[in-house]
Amino acid sequence: MLSHENRPATVQPASKPAADRLTPNGAPNDAASSHHLFIVTGPAGCGKSTVGKFIAKNMNLPFIEGDEYHPRANVEKMSRDIPLTDADRWDWLTRLREESLQRLSASQGVVVTCSALKRKYRDVIRVAPYYFHDVLVHFIYLHAPESVLLARVQARHGHYMGAGMVHSQFDALEEPGDEETDVIAVDVSGSVDEVETTTLASVQRAVLRDL
Ligand SMILES: Nc1ncnc2c1ncn2[C@@H]1O[C@H](COP(=O)(O)OP(=O)(O)OP(=O)(O)O)[C@@H](O)[C@H]1O
Ligand SMILES: [Mg+2]
Repeated sequence: MLSHENRPATVQPASKPAADRLTPNGAPNDAASSHHLFIVTGPAGCGKSTVGKFIAKNMNLPFIEGDEYHPRANVEKMSRDIPLTDADRWDWLTRLREESLQRLSASQGVVVTCSALKRKYRDVIRVAPYYFHDVLVHFIYLHAPESVLLARVQARHGHYMGAGMVHSQFDALEEPGDEETDVIAVDVSGSVDEVETTTLASVQRAVLRDL
């Protein structure tokens, strides 16, 4: 857990104005200085890595590939098509949240891939603003029918996540409800170009709305 003690002393480059800084827990929130945590979510093969990298590049933000933060035991399970349990995911989710906050200490935003299949997993990420009140969390939920994602994963090479994981991830999936107002849902049935353009426009609208 990120504590006040081990948080980096310098939270923004010196050139940034004070109003741009992440404010420590308890300080007043200032909408103009919001820091945006974009979590690109959805089941295996929905395009988290593809779309997440595109958004990060176009918005000039750091990118965190969530898969790289799994402990080796999780990767081994997934590469053998064994679904992760809730217990397998907790430490991974909190690590991702901490890493995201670290990146936000030097950036106005960060883009992170994380399947966040269940409401309780998304709620772990939603704890981020408890640490820094000016952090705004946006979930970008990429969705398409299971058959579409299965075909994409079957065609993909060199990734430990096999096609067998698509079905179990759909089984585990709790689609975000209407009450989860921090979710931007994007239909990813179209081409990569279409999906990237649509997602970028939706993300930019969300940022403008929060200014
Ligand atoms: N809109 C799209 N149309 C066609 N192919 C796509 C589209 N988006 C992504 N792909 C392809 O589908 C495959 C899965 O995409 P990607 O690896 O980005 O998904 P992911 O959600 O990160 O998967 P994982 O959960 O396994 O990490 C890749 O080969 C990618 O090139
Ligand atoms: Mg990926």
